[in-house]
Amino acid sequence: MCYLFLILCYKILNVMKKILVCFGTRPEAIKMCPLVIALRKKQCFDVKIVVSGQHKEMLQSVLKVFHMVPDYNLDIMKENQTLFDITNSTLEKSKVVFEKENPDLVLVHGDTSTSFAFSLAAFYLGIKVGHVEAGLRTYDIHSPFPEEFNRCAISVVSELDFAPTDSAKCNLLRMGKNENFIFVTGNTGIDSLRYTIDENYFDENIKFAKDNPTILVTCHRRENIGANMENIFSALKRIALEFKTINIIYPVHKNPKVREIAHKHLDNVKNIKLVEPLNTIEFHNLMNCCKFVVTDSGGIQEEAPFLGKPVLVVRDTTERPEAVKAGTCKLSGVNEDSIYNDIKELITSNSFYNKMANSINPYGDGFASEKIADILEQIYDS
Ligand code: UD1
Ligand code: UDP
Repeated sequence: MCYLFLILCYKILNVMKKILVCFGTRPEAIKMCPLVIALRKKQCFDVKIVVSGQHKEMLQSVLKVFHMVPDYNLDIMKENQTLFDITNSTLEKSKVVFEKENPDLVLVHGDTSTSFAFSLAAFYLGIKVGHVEAGLRTYDIHSPFPEEFNRCAISVVSELDFAPTDSAKCNLLRMGKNENFIFVTGNTGIDSLRYTIDENYFDENIKFAKDNPTILVTCHRRENIGANMENIFSALKRIALEFKTINIIYPVHKNPKVREIAHKHLDNVKNIKLVEPLNTIEFHNLMNCCKFVVTDSGGIQEEAPFLGKPVLVVRDTTERPEAVKAGTCKLSGVNEDSIYNDIKELITSNSFYNKMANSINPYGDGFASEKIADILEQIYDS
């Protein structure tokens, strides 16, 4: 009652600030839903969700876990969509929504083409942009592609930057951004684990992971599709054939190109299980039960260390150097032998395994969203 009265007062006095939280893919949703929850606890904000729909099933699955219903869904996804498709459609369609809503702030996340297009649309309309997970860099514009370009471009137009770590903040300072508007908060992806991890959770994949030591795999990056992915999957198959008491489980991304290569290499191997993308609760709890992770994902490089799971990153570069420095992630590259050797060492060397598993997680305490909401409240109160 008191809460409703306050909201009414804010509305009458026109001091309630309107924030559009904009995203479109699975990882953005996982990292933005905890922020929506934190912002909605503040009575001074009118928070709406706008999704591009760059992902369809994989986005819906996260929204369902967090009980979120978008206020707008631009519904842009096409099979085998190109970067032109995603950018054009999001830019055009968000214009209509932003003009109608005329928000005080548009919040975008990370480095997807959805986030780039939303931030560009807001900039064209003179709307302030806030960037969550700002400042990650590999300094190689081709890797990851096109994410390194996207995040650099968002940094050019964003006026409030929420950097997960000090080194991300340094990257923003290096490009001449004003220190007063950069806030180090930790990563909101860690917050999502507070909503999903349940030591009593059980399903058939957890059973599989508990039957034998299990390697959890994800692989989807655009620049890995083709020869790199063939190398990664060949290395995994060699491991599976050599170590019969090791299980491998891979929730295969919906991208048809990824699925084709995965099934070509990994079907019909007894100790390899290919499954559909898992919902966030299923996936986080599976990660919590596995022995270690092999991935080219960004977000998993942050989540797995929090759960004490070593990560082999099957990429040539990473924008998460803190995790490599801390010793919890290792860059294995995209060469079949180097990946095979690193996996084999994690299986056979207890000291190597324990060193990685016991390293400190550098991505925060799981309350980054609350920090961001507090900062925004202070900014708009003053
Ligand atoms: C996108 C992001 C990438 C992020 C990844 C997370 C860009 C350019 N890429 O890459 O940064 O790491 O999401 O997963 O922004 N598909 C479905 N259903 C879905 C999702 C995808 O069928 O729910 C299929 C469609 O055929 C789609 C294809 O996958 O065309 C590729 O999706 P897309 O978003 O273009 O690329 P991702 O590799 O998912
Ligand atoms: N994830 C999930 N189900 C899966 C695979 C991954 O929920 O089957 C989650 C994972 O925990 C992480 C996010 O999806 O939070 C990572 O997404 P992805 O690897 O697609 O994107 P990236 O982080 O590389 O941008």
